[in-house]
Amino acid sequence: MDIKISTKSPLQLKTPCLVIGVGEKDFSDPLIKELDRQLGGLVLQAKRSGEFCGKALESLTFQPTGELAAERVLLVGLGLAADLSLEKLRQAAGHAMQQVIDKKLNGAAFALPLCPSKPNDSAAQTQSVAEGLLLASYRYERFLGAEAIKTRPLPKSINLLIDSNHKKSACEQALARAEKICRGVALARNLVNAPGNVKSPVYLAEQAQVAATQSGLKCTILGQDELAAEGFGALLGVAQGSMREPQLIVLEHRGGKPDQAPVALVGKGVTFDSGGISLKPGEKMDEMKMDMAGGAAVIGAMLAAALLELPINLVGVVPAVENMPSGSAIRPGDILTSLSGQTIEVLNTDAEGRLILADALTYVKRYEPQLVIDLATLTGACIIALGHHATAVLGNDDKLISGLLAAGEDCGERLWQLPLWDDYDQLIKSDVADVKNTGGRAAGTITAAAFLKKFTKDFRWVHLDIAGTAWRDQNQPYIPKGGTGVGVRLLVTFLQNMVANK
Ligand code: BES
Ligand code: MN
Ligand code: ZN
Repeated sequence: MDIKISTKSPLQLKTPCLVIGVGEKDFSDPLIKELDRQLGGLVLQAKRSGEFCGKALESLTFQPTGELAAERVLLVGLGLAADLSLEKLRQAAGHAMQQVIDKKLNGAAFALPLCPSKPNDSAAQTQSVAEGLLLASYRYERFLGAEAIKTRPLPKSINLLIDSNHKKSACEQALARAEKICRGVALARNLVNAPGNVKSPVYLAEQAQVAATQSGLKCTILGQDELAAEGFGALLGVAQGSMREPQLIVLEHRGGKPDQAPVALVGKGVTFDSGGISLKPGEKMDEMKMDMAGGAAVIGAMLAAALLELPINLVGVVPAVENMPSGSAIRPGDILTSLSGQTIEVLNTDAEGRLILADALTYVKRYEPQLVIDLATLTGACIIALGHHATAVLGNDDKLISGLLAAGEDCGERLWQLPLWDDYDQLIKSDVADVKNTGGRAAGTITAAAFLKKFTKDFRWVHLDIAGTAWRDQNQPYIPKGGTGVGVRLLVTFLQNMVANK
């Protein structure tokens, strides 16, 4: 799919499909008026009949016969101008792209950022439109036959139309940025969508290595023996029920000054979470192949950061294990000694994410990070609290949390903060060890974070629980069902904001 910025006039452009964004009360826009005239009044007629009023995610296709150069016109609603945001634009682009793909068209031209006509925001708008259509065009095809793949051809060429108010070079740079970021998202989605039989911890490490080679990241892998020698007791406890060797994946990007402390990103990489001896119920257990989505977000974000050549130092750490029940698995009641030296009473082997994260968070300390962000599909309770529409954010530094909340608003991956008061600490007190790995039914997302807090005392830290946002079982405007790649755009946006505010 070849995407280009074009300054051609929409109504004179020869294209299989001209996509035009229309605001809910913007039918008086000169472009829409002229379009309506060329279509013999059909646009305003559709408005009068209520068939298309420009509401967000409404759409209508015309096949004109008159003077219009385009073979088709696809109107896509943008909603009220007052509510218009980059996210609305991204969704409109994604929604339109889905239809372009459904119609098997081999090209399209998008005239979306024209409507908001905020010229000084043109780069951000272009980036959003490009993201929307790139992310909507994603599909996991690895196990589909050639026939199935052929039935969904992607358009060969896409034009993003801008008018003379917008600076072409700025828009071209924004498009290039979107392409790099979406490569990171696609990688994360591919990793999450890969089935558990393919996706061993070693597979995840190999894929991280491939991404590193493509982008100039440094990649280091610790295997069973190294982890044992270092004392990763909590991580190895989870791994011991599986036939598959655990891996600690470490990616490094050195875009900043040599002496600048890195930002550390840590992602839960449970390649399949059966629950272990505390076995999960069978219903929807298949979805637990997504339990490495935090790790996928870290790998995807590291790839994007390297491609974007972000001027910052980063270290990404992914503890990768499989959580399985077997004769060698840990039992409820077992006590593990973590890398930090703190002992952990394992009351439920299904609360495994916090165990591997405890050791990974202890490990990143040796990089003397300026701040640490972890992402994990950590608790079912998070889905009960926030559903699939927000990632939970908790941490020990309010400024850092604000920065992430802001990045979430900027990129459309929204976060909601939960409290992490010391009051919750008593829920994870153990009689026989320093801490226990479950805190009962109440405040499950918070007690999981309270557990992690015991391993993050030495740095600024935020925890993102992506249990509800990492996987969707229904298509969204630019998120096909399955792995969403959540976290990649959030992290990249956060890091870009960090760089820009300095
Ligand atoms: N990976 C799960 C959490 C999860 C559940 C993510 C559903 C996405 C969808 C995690 O390892 C887990 O099993 N958590 C337990 C913790 C409990 C045993 C304290 C949970 O949430 O039930
Ligand atoms: Mn679990
Ligand atoms: Zn899990």
